[in-house]
Amino acid sequence: MYHVVLCNVVHCELVSVCEEEDGDLRVDCHVEPRANQINSYEFSVSTGTVETVVNTNVSGSAPDVRYRDRSYVEPLEPYGYRLTLNADTHILANTHKTFICKISKNIASVIIEKNDLLPCSADSVLVRGCCWLLGLLLSLWGLAPH
Ligand SMILES: *[C@@H]1O[C@H](CO)[C@@H](O)[C@H](O)[C@H]1NC(C)=O
Repeated sequence: MYHVVLCNVVHCELVSVCEEEDGDLRVDCHVEPRANQINSYEFSVSTGTVETVVNTNVSGSAPDVRYRDRSYVEPLEPYGYRLTLNADTHILANTHKTFICKISKNIASVIIEKNDLLPCSADSVLVRGCCWLLGLLLSLWGLAPH
């Protein structure tokens, strides 16, 4: 539990969204899977009322036709998943969207507007900085006599 608190201290988000150089959208979900649950991921977007699935491997769930074959998911270390969504979906074209990810039943989300979108080159520095600090704090925790 404590690593979530530390992450908030340095403004490290559990879900981060950024734009790659080619216009693809990258959604990183740094959510730890819940213990004793089937390992699964589900990425979706919402405008407040309707939630639309973008990519998932939850059994019995499928992406919306708009996003089918328009994205791929890869695992992140030490846990979490990265969604890469084709620029041609124009997912942020009209309004702000809430990006939601569910990893083995743990849920996190972030609201993004097109104007908020950072290039991934800048975003990854932030996230890496956070995770580096986190790793340091965790190793100090581990080393501290208690
Ligand atoms: C979902 O994908 C992950 C990573 O590829 C895999 O470990 C997991 O078993 C998959 N879950 C299901 C329900 O297929």
